[in-house]
Formats: sequence, C-alpha cells, structure tokens
Amino acid sequence: MDWDRADYTNIGDLPAKLGQNVCLRGWLYAKRSSGKIRFLLLRDGTATVQLVLVQGQTPDAVFQASDTLTQESSFQVRGKVREDKRSKIGVELDVEDLHIIQVAQDYPIGPKEHGPDFLLSNRHLWLRSSRPHAILRIRARFIKAIRDFFDNDGFVLVDTPIFTPAACEGTTTLFETEYFGEKAYLSQSGQLYAEAAAMAFGKAYCFGPTFRAEKSKTRRHLTEFWMVEPEVAFNDLEANMVLAERFLEYTVQTVLKECRDELAVLQRDTKRLENVKAPFPRVSYDDAVEMLKAKNLPFEWGGDFGAPEETALAESFDRPIFVHRFPAQIKAFYMKPDPKSPRHALGMDCLAPEGYGEIIGGGQREDDLQALVQRLHEHGLPESAFDWYLDLRKYGSVPHAGFGLGLERTVAWICGLEHLREASPFPRMIHRLRP
Ligand code: 4AD
Ligand code: MG
Repeated sequence: MDWDRADYTNIGDLPAKLGQNVCLRGWLYAKRSSGKIRFLLLRDGTATVQLVLVQGQTPDAVFQASDTLTQESSFQVRGKVREDKRSKIGVELDVEDLHIIQVAQDYPIGPKEHGPDFLLSNRHLWLRSSRPHAILRIRARFIKAIRDFFDNDGFVLVDTPIFTPAACEGTTTLFETEYFGEKAYLSQSGQLYAEAAAMAFGKAYCFGPTFRAEKSKTRRHLTEFWMVEPEVAFNDLEANMVLAERFLEYTVQTVLKECRDELAVLQRDTKRLENVKAPFPRVSYDDAVEMLKAKNLPFEWGGDFGAPEETALAESFDRPIFVHRFPAQIKAFYMKPDPKSPRHALGMDCLAPEGYGEIIGGGQREDDLQALVQRLHEHGLPESAFDWYLDLRKYGSVPHAGFGLGLERTVAWICGLEHLREASPFPRMIHRLRP
C-alpha cells in the first residue's frame, strides 16, 4: 500500500462514508484494550474516531504494530467505516492496515489532572487536548463572525500600525521599544488611526493585536490581546451603542448556532447567551453609582469600576448592559464631554453578565480642535506626538464615535472560562513569555 499517494478522508467527514473503505491519518489520542480487542482513538484535528482491531481478524502484523503506538504517535490507517450508535460521530473504523509515521516518546500531558502552570508551560502541546481545541475553534469562528458583520455592514478594514509614536490609552501601560534611535511604543489601541480611516471611508474598522504593560495579575488582563475597533463618522454616543448591540447580538448568536459541539465540550450553559439580543439596557454612570449603594457596595462618585462593581451591576440584568456617561476625569483625553453636563464624558462600556465585566469600551470623540489640544495638555501628553491626529480636527472635523471589543475577554465569557488566558492560543501575561 502506497501511503504517500493514498486519498485521505477527514475524520469529520466520516459519517457520510458509511460502509466505505477509507484512509485516515493523525495522532493517537488514547487507547484501551479488552481481551483480544484494541480500541485506538485517532484524532486529526477535524474530529476523533475510534479504531477497532480484533486479534485473529485484523492482520497479525497490523495488530502488533498497533501495540507499539503511544499517546500522540502519528500514523495512517485504512479500514471500513461502520455505524456505531454510541460514538459521538456515529461511526467507527474496522482497521485493515496501519502505518506508523512516528512513535512519540513520553508525551507529557496525560489523562490525569495537571496544574494550570504546567499546562501553560506546555501550551504548544496542550492545544491538542479537547478543551483548548474547543475554545480555539470558538475563537476562530467568533473572529470570522466579527469580520462578516463589519464587512457586510459597509465597513472598510483598515489595518493600523503596531509601532506607534504616542500613547492612546494612558502612559502607565506602555511598552516602550527602541526604534532606530527614537522611542516607539507598542500600540495600546488602533483607535486614533481608525478615526483617520473613518474620515476617509465613513465607516472603518481595525482588528489586530494590542499591547498593555499590565503589571497586575488578574483573570481579566493579558499584556497582548486582540481588539476589534469600528469607528464611524457622524455617529454619536447613542448610535455607537446601537452599533455595539447589533454587533454583539450577531456575533454571539452566530457562535451559538455554529459551535454547538464545542460549547458542549466546555459544558457551557448557553441559556444566558441566548439572551444576547438587542436592545441592551442602558444605565448612566450616576444611576450605576446609586445601584451600587443600594446593593451596599461602598462607592464614591468619580471612581472607576473594578471587577466587583462591574459584576454587581451586571447581575441585575439578563443580558449585557451599557454603562454610559462616566466622569470625564477618569476617561481618556479623546473623549468628548457631554455638552449638557461637562463633568461627564460621552463614553460607554458594555458589561458582560456572569461576572465577566467590561468587554467593550468606547464613546463619542472630541471633535473640536481647541478642546482636544486642551485635553492633551491636561493629560500631560506631548502635542507634537499627536500633530497628525489634530489634523483630523482641522480638515473637515465631524462628530464621530467608535468602540473597541476585547477578543479574549469576550471569548472567555462565551466559553464560560475562569481566566481569559485560555482564550488565547499563546497567552502573554506579566510572568509568561513562553512558549
Ligand atoms: O476600554 P479600552 O481601554 O478602550 C480602548 O482601548 C479604546 N481606544 C477602544 C476604542 O474606542 N476604539 O479597551 C477596550 C477593550 C476592553 O473593553 C477590554 O475588553 C479589552 O479591550 N481590554 C483588555 N483585554 C485583555 N487584557 C487587557 N489588558 C485589556 N485591556 C483592555
Ligand atoms: Mg475601558
């Protein structure tokens, strides 16, 4: 049998091949034996299937070869697809021939429980296990839903740079790097460039990695995470919230529909996700402070919400909520103050239910040149680094708004993860740069 020239079937496609002779290839996920029978679990990335070998029935050489296979050994098989009602994919394979590619030596991840540190240090291998596999498939599907939503809604994708000359989200979490004798910073957000794109295309979005030197170890912070940031000319705060709720409804409902199997692997209770339908409740920051007081959570007007406050606020609702009009003093320099109450900024956060907290941050931008220059000064930011950004207010400035959704936080919520690090294929945190 010429294994190099064989026509291989994806395990995921096996149910349609009932009764046929097929070739499969992949890795040994697990095996067990019972008397004269061997059961091999073969995975190929698309699904797993049980292979059955019976002593006396399966050719002897094939039967013996199967006994040398260890966990994660790579091999090819040929056999007949047989219906099996107990199997998750409804079929098994009766093996007729088998060819070993490589026998793995002492694969470190076994069926026993491992600690999170061990698993994260072996992330490059851990990806093969069913749980990370399910999470990363959901992440990939969610990314596609994000792109589909904006691409189908008239947005133009405009990629923004990672090397930047200035801070977008405050100077405390900047990663500094040397850039041919100049200082550069890894992008904290593509927003300022997305604003330039919105003035060129009307509706634009960027989607890529962003960086924050988060020194705290929390379940909600990575130092490298992905953010999708739409920006729309002529949108105000309310239009921004309408866009955000339509977007979240579409993307979450798409994942719910298309990733049923993966969510089942994670044993995710999907009832709460089914509620992710527009409109979302809108709560002003001032009302939120009153709600917290009523819940006996001591909180002073003017502070920023932490995880306990966000959890408590979201608890009162059955779907994500918007908190809007924060105190201007705690918000970024680019936020427009509310003309009706200048100590409030026209910003909004979307809080996810079930304790996941802020997944979206955004708002209406300051579109007046003088006011923006003044805000830069108040924040101690150098005007010279923002000269190009100020140009956007000199040449046809218009009201505009946008937001950023954190990919890993949202995936962690959709999947019901305890820590958002599992939502990233190779997470970066304060004490983790490897693998
Ligand atoms: O609220 P943030 O800081 O907003 C911005 O960066 C705006 N410039 C976005 C915009 O208006 N275009 O971040 C937006 C989102 C947060 O809601 C959160 O989901 C995520 O990015 N995020 C993080 N995710 C993981 N780890 C971190 N350290 C994060 N910091 C923010
Ligand atoms: Mg924020």
